[in-house]
Amino acid sequence: MLSKKVENILNKQIEKEGYSSNLYLAMASWAENEGYKGISDWLYAQTEEERMHMLKFISYINEKDGKAIIPAFEKPVFKVKTVKELFDAVLKHEKFITASINDIVELVLQEKDFSTYSWVQWFVTEQIEEEANVRAILDKLKLVGEANLYLFDRDIMTLRTPAAGEGA
Ligand code: FEO
Repeated sequence: MLSKKVENILNKQIEKEGYSSNLYLAMASWAENEGYKGISDWLYAQTEEERMHMLKFISYINEKDGKAIIPAFEKPVFKVKTVKELFDAVLKHEKFITASINDIVELVLQEKDFSTYSWVQWFVTEQIEEEANVRAILDKLKLVGEANLYLFDRDIMTLRTPAAGEGA
């Protein structure tokens, strides 16, 4: 059984993960229109990962006798002109998601909900990886320089580490 407070915060996370999926979908479409095939593939893959995160929250809430609520999602908003700005926006968003996962950890400890505490550790680890991946991309971008986006776009998919549980 989940406490009402825990059920609510987990339901809010469904919305955040679904929004993330749509945000990366909008960014993938932007990159595709700009002619960056590799970057759009990376973002489309990220879209799927975020959807998988959302599904994990839905099934966990339902498994624990809560009621997962599928919300309306806000239209994703981002304004970027360059690839550097795009990945800065991705990192900023991931930091926001990390903060929301930390809020969940804080609440479940307060509520002494140790099973949710244990379950949510997967997301704690996932966020460390996601932020590290985007930082590695930004480092690579600095290295190749924005003037040589051809190489960056060609190689970006090699920087992708599969999410835990993906592909196995
Ligand atoms: Fe589901 Fe990228 O956080």
